[in-house]
Amino acid sequence: MPLIALLPGDGIGPEVVAEARRVLDALDLGLTFEEAPVGGAAYETLGHPLPISTLDLAEQADAILFGAVGDARFDGVERSLRPEQAVLGLRKELNLFANLRPAKLFPGLEDASALRPEVAGAIDLVIVRELTGDVYFGEKGRRETIEGLREGYDLMAYDEIEVRRIARVGFETARGRTGKLCSVDKANVLETSQLWRDVVIETAADYPDVALTHMYVDNAAMQLVRNPGQFDTIVTGNLFGDILSDQASMCAGSIGMLPSASLGEAIGGRVKGLYEPIHGSAPDIAGQGKANPCATILSAAMMLRHSLDRADMADRIEAAVTAALVGGARTADLGGALSTSQMGDAVLARL
Ligand code: NAI
Ligand code: MG
Repeated sequence: MPLIALLPGDGIGPEVVAEARRVLDALDLGLTFEEAPVGGAAYETLGHPLPISTLDLAEQADAILFGAVGDARFDGVERSLRPEQAVLGLRKELNLFANLRPAKLFPGLEDASALRPEVAGAIDLVIVRELTGDVYFGEKGRRETIEGLREGYDLMAYDEIEVRRIARVGFETARGRTGKLCSVDKANVLETSQLWRDVVIETAADYPDVALTHMYVDNAAMQLVRNPGQFDTIVTGNLFGDILSDQASMCAGSIGMLPSASLGEAIGGRVKGLYEPIHGSAPDIAGQGKANPCATILSAAMMLRHSLDRADMADRIEAAVTAALVGGARTADLGGALSTSQMGDAVLARL
């Protein structure tokens, strides 16, 4: 029986995870759930945002369903104990190097996008972002220049193994969709990007069925708002992916609609993954039953697809969310009046 670690976290995390749990329960898949504290909630009760007991559970589990962490109450706490460290710690400890963020405009939500409806309607893409390397993890620090100025530095570096494994995830993802992969880099300026491009091209030899293109990141930012319909799968490094994936998500409408997966290496044909909505703990609406649970429900669908080999059930969940929206179900972020649990009911009714 697959074991799912439920880490609801802070703010609206528990509210949205509860709805995803209801949907998974309704499918009767024989999953075992075990819940553990994470983030501010864990810091308060156990003194650390990612307690050993929670990390142990995450390591044993077949997949992790995560809500959100973060609360201004912990702003004064030292950086290593802040709630947000829990997400970074899980990614690092579990070696979750591939972040998948699908951005798709659901039917009827054209008005929620920051783009014109006819442009937004064409968005159906996935950004595959490298998650454990790049400038975020390179040597960093402060020093003084010879002129006596303060200087900050962060080293950008990728080795070929890191590039090859994320490139493979990009090609595999593209293969499962429309077979178009766009690798985004800054190879006209950066040595890191030149290596990136070389390795992506070498990897392409194993994927003759995938059409590979390359784009500089500045152009990609422009193209994402000009004509997002041209993209299917984008593969890129940590820094570029961080920015482009936030941009793409807003093009696709409410932050309450978008799921994500953070995946590790496949072991025995299965991939360990952490699944979470892209939004945070939304303290402004926490505890009021206003949060849109769809991003978390769709994250649970990604979990079934990538870690539990149940693409059939993932399709069912995605179809139920679509049908609920087509039927007019809307939480406040989508301009409606349904509560979190009523939105969950609407999805369950279509399952
Ligand atoms: P946020 O994503 O929590 O909220 C941004 C805005 O979107 C707020 O107005 C919120 O009400 C709204 N919103 C978010 N999710 C929603 C949902 N499901 N339904 C309806 N409306 C929703 O980002 P913010 O405010 O910048 O950060 C709040 C806290 O969350 C901070 O402590 C931050 O560090 C943390 N955070 C945690 C993340 C994580 O756990 N992975 C990711 C992003 C932020
Ligand atoms: Mg970000």
